[in-house]
Amino acid sequence: MGKKLALERIIHNQGFGARKLCRLMIWNQEVTVNGQVCDDPDAEFDLEQLHYTVKGEAWDYREQSYLMMHKPSHYECSHKTQHHPTIYSLLPQPLVVRDVQCIGRLDEDTTGLILISDDGQFIHRMSSPKHKVPKVYEVTCKHPVSDAQIAHLCQGVQLIDEDAPIAALSCTRINAHVLHMTLAEGKYHQVKRMVAAISNRVEALKRIQIGELVLPADLAPGQWRWLSETDMKHLGALPA
Ligand code: URA
Repeated sequence: MGKKLALERIIHNQGFGARKLCRLMIWNQEVTVNGQVCDDPDAEFDLEQLHYTVKGEAWDYREQSYLMMHKPSHYECSHKTQHHPTIYSLLPQPLVVRDVQCIGRLDEDTTGLILISDDGQFIHRMSSPKHKVPKVYEVTCKHPVSDAQIAHLCQGVQLIDEDAPIAALSCTRINAHVLHMTLAEGKYHQVKRMVAAISNRVEALKRIQIGELVLPADLAPGQWRWLSETDMKHLGALPA
């Protein structure tokens, strides 16, 4: 048997609001546990394999949250945004209450794969420059990309404000204007600055892979999903 906790605390910990509010919802029979209404806020439940609903919406108990999102264009990655809605508005409120954070930021006009979690260690591991988790970007360039420009990106380009040249780990041409570029770092506007340094210009940018985790083809812009165990392995966050 795993750890047990009172229902009121479970619902509160999972992000459904203040303890008092959670108690009221339980009393009002708005919460079911493993298929049955429970109106006793003090009833204790085993946290393992715990399925519950709140106001008809189904949830699994999760100690911590690990998710991926297909970031759409015209959304910002911060909590307090300036000009566009925040990507957090695309998540259910309980996750926002749990204070999930995105791991690294994508520009407002960049789309694609972004990881979100409330596990500080995981966030640190995925974003720390020490771990160099590779990220793959699909880069649409304004001008056709030459072999010399690709070679330049792979050999390293000098960016203003950087001490040493930065090189792409790899760079593959998909067609005259589109590259797949893999980077080990996540510096500010890195792809756009690197492409500008080879006298070209980014017209569209999409992150398509982090570590071995590929943006799923069936995850539409604006959608999110929980990371599976396989996804976590692909991120190197669990033993393979
Ligand atoms: N590089 C950029 O220039 N922008 C992003 O959003 C991500 C990487």
